[in-house]
Amino acid sequence: MTVKCSKCNNPAIIRIGYANLNLCKEHFIEYFESRFERIIEKYKMLEGSKKVAVAVSGGKDSTTLLHLMNKIKDKYGIELIGITIDLGINKHESKYSAKSVEYAIKNYELLGVKYKIVKVSEDYGFTIDDAAKKLRRPVCSTCGLTKRYILNKVAAELGADTLATAHNLNDTAQFVFHGYFSGDVENLARLRAIAPAEKGFIKKIKPLFLVPEKEIATYAIVKNIPFITDSCPYVALRLGSRSQTILRRKIEEIEDELPGFMAYLVENFENKIRPALEKEYGIKEEEKEGHRCKICGMPTPPGRDICSFCAIRLKLTSAINTI
Ligand code: FES
Ligand code: ZN
Ligand code: ZN
Repeated sequence: MTVKCSKCNNPAIIRIGYANLNLCKEHFIEYFESRFERIIEKYKMLEGSKKVAVAVSGGKDSTTLLHLMNKIKDKYGIELIGITIDLGINKHESKYSAKSVEYAIKNYELLGVKYKIVKVSEDYGFTIDDAAKKLRRPVCSTCGLTKRYILNKVAAELGADTLATAHNLNDTAQFVFHGYFSGDVENLARLRAIAPAEKGFIKKIKPLFLVPEKEIATYAIVKNIPFITDSCPYVALRLGSRSQTILRRKIEEIEDELPGFMAYLVENFENKIRPALEKEYGIKEEEKEGHRCKICGMPTPPGRDICSFCAIRLKLTSAINTI
């Protein structure tokens, strides 16, 4: 039997468990877009923003974020610019990075959004494939560090005052859970949906932090947004963190049994737990002053001459050049 939409007589295409709704295509699009705006409003994400850089990897989350931001840009009086990083992940002929960049560009052109592609191999002399081969640390963590560094740097160079990234509810729930599991109170205190401009960095926002991955994927499909469906080969090979992978799966299983679990976990964390942690473990006054890396000039914690990215880059480029 086909399930009917809770708002009209058309067949439902998705069940929103936590809201006890079954929605048809039109009503889902309406629900999804207005919920996105409500989150932007509730957390005052665009207050004071004029130029927003959107990090677009070519996957469903970031391409959807680009479309949603483009939809509201005039209402909020903001200018958009896209940033895409070519990480050089082409392991086993996967051409993962090449394809991701292609999808990102398709979306920029479709929407007429200006963009910048940063090629890590050209600008920094290594690829994430090199990092996987030459470094003894998990490749996903080198990749994450590289992405954060480049996005912060390039967004500021492009004159943006805000950087928007597409972390979704499942990602955020996973980070919160992992923080509890590992007792990483400092990272938890800094896990914010909006990070104001500080320590020499521009403001950062995560407009999808309360939006479940399933809804984003459904929206991207029904709106015919072009996105890459391949997964990163390193994630597929389980070279990422095993505990992160297991925690994510378990959180999603709980959500199936207890709809709304992820949103409660993340909203309670953001509104109640994190502010308490911030008092004890948040950014310290001395960090706010913004020490600079001696090599690249980007902000680095006090007491450190070079930033973590430059340290990794030096190690990696010297490993590449010694045979
Ligand atoms: Fe960074 Fe896969 S996208 S390691
Ligand atoms: Zn309907
Ligand atoms: Zn540096």
